[in-house]
Amino acid sequence: MFLGEKPKQELTFALAGQDFRPAVTFIWTVVPYRIAWRYSGAEEKLALLDIGHVCQNLYIACEAENMGTCAIGAYMQEPLDKFIGVDGETEFSIYASPVGKL
Ligand SMILES: Cc1cc2nc3c(=O)[nH]c(=O)nc-3n(C[C@H](O)[C@H](O)[C@H](O)COP(=O)(O)O)c2cc1C
Repeated sequence: MFLGEKPKQELTFALAGQDFRPAVTFIWTVVPYRIAWRYSGAEEKLALLDIGHVCQNLYIACEAENMGTCAIGAYMQEPLDKFIGVDGETEFSIYASPVGKL
C-alpha cells in the first residue's frame, strides 16, 4: 500500500524512529501455528532461521538490482503489529527491511 504522511510517521515510530526514506518497506510476520503443528518444541528456532533466509535473499536481490536494504530487528513490537493489523499472538511481526535505490 502507498502511505500518506501520517501512516509514514506511524511506521517510523513503530520502527523505533529508524527512517531510511525507502521506496518500499518489507515487514515480515510469523504465524506460529504454521510451524508448531509440525515442529512442536523447535518452532522459535525454525521461525528465526526461516526469516533469516528470507531477509538474506532480499539482500541478494537488492545487490543484483543495485539497490540497498537494511534489516531492522530493533522495532517496537506492539506498534508494528498494530500498524500492519495483526493481533500479536496468532500472527506477529518479526523483521522489517526498507529497500531503496543506492
Ligand atoms: C537480526 C538483525 C537485526 C538488525 N536490526 C537492525 C536495526 O534495527 N537497525 C539497523 O540500522 N540495522 C539493523 N541490522 C543491521 C546491522 O546493523 C548490520 O548488519 C550490522 O551493523 C553490520 O553492518 P556491517 O556489515 O556494515 O558491518 C540488523 C541486523 C541483523 C542481523
